[in-house]
Amino acid sequence: MLFSPLKIRSITLRNRVGVSPMCQYSAVDGAVNDWHLMHLGARAAGGAGLVIAEATAVEPIGRITPGCAGIWSDEHAVAWSRVTRMITEMGAVPAIQLAHAGRKASTPRPWDSGPRGTLRADQGGWSTIGVTDQAFGTLAAPRAMTGADIERVTGAFVGSAKRAMAAGFQVVEIHAAHGYLLHSFLSPLSNTRTDAFGGSFENRCRFLLNTVREVRRVWPAELPLFVRLSATDWDDNGWTLEDSVTLAGTLRELGVDVIDCSSGGATPASGTVKTPREPGFQVPLASRVRSGAKIATAAVGLITDAHQANAIITEGHADIVLAARQLLRDPNLAYTWARQLGRAGELKLTPAYEYWIGAGEG
Ligand SMILES: Cc1cc2nc3c(=O)[nH]c(=O)nc-3n(C[C@H](O)[C@H](O)[C@H](O)COP(=O)(O)O)c2cc1C
Repeated sequence: MLFSPLKIRSITLRNRVGVSPMCQYSAVDGAVNDWHLMHLGARAAGGAGLVIAEATAVEPIGRITPGCAGIWSDEHAVAWSRVTRMITEMGAVPAIQLAHAGRKASTPRPWDSGPRGTLRADQGGWSTIGVTDQAFGTLAAPRAMTGADIERVTGAFVGSAKRAMAAGFQVVEIHAAHGYLLHSFLSPLSNTRTDAFGGSFENRCRFLLNTVREVRRVWPAELPLFVRLSATDWDDNGWTLEDSVTLAGTLRELGVDVIDCSSGGATPASGTVKTPREPGFQVPLASRVRSGAKIATAAVGLITDAHQANAIITEGHADIVLAARQLLRDPNLAYTWARQLGRAGELKLTPAYEYWIGAGEG
């Protein structure tokens, strides 16, 4: 059930409630700070088993906004190490989502007033790279990546994974969803390349598979590796759920432990894409990838209720439940759900909370 521990390689999550990665747009030159310490630390103290830090750029031009976090230098790793120490002290497992935004990079923070679209250099922006030179919607057209760019970015993921280890993270998640760089190679909606990285299914998967293979080489064998996929583009001409099942099987063979099943983002929302937005709408994706590829999955998306979350685990649809917005509403969501399921006694909190509201009280 939701509050049974989960062992993956040498790591044990105290329960199956995880903090889904959430950009905070609050870093300075990629460096995280007190905000991230407070935000992630609070959710670890609130009882989550796994805390996945936000999309963290592997090179500066891979940030979505100038406020996005990075781990392209050792100084970034030092800044992160304060955060991982706190998460670990609170009894949760610290994970980092390594990311490159590709042609969706260099945009303003969501809440910034002023210009929308791609930021110019004089607005703090930069030139973007992409799977082709085709723009995402109204954003600026990127420069199509050369073979050398692809190799450099794979190397940046590898360097970032090494720094993530130095920073004290125990799980790496590779971000291959939401129309960002790795997903834009997977999806036929965006990948119209004619070289070894475009065309056939195998070619479109090549960049991600090479990156996973190289990261797995440096990421310790005793630590878990996750991949977040957009398990479907919700478009008949796009990446499909069955593509995800096939890819997930290969990822498992390369040493990936969990597929985090999100969806969408390959094309602007105004396009042909029809996303169903009802509670748990992505759970069937996690369920199909889990049964089809025989790999552990994380379910995410409009999971807000304790019984709903518990059923996802007990009915065998996924191994981990991730929440994003509900954890903004309630940083103690894992504790809240434990109480609602009558399991507060099984959830060990930090003594400063446990003594007052822990087992006896719950
Ligand atoms: C503020 C915010 C920031 C997000 N940032 C990321 C991110 O960095 N990486 C990612 O893969 N998804 C990101 N997401 C998507 C969430 O991880 C999650 O998949 C999505 O919000 C659906 O879950 P929910 O219904 O529980 O909010 C973000 C969502 C929110 C609300």
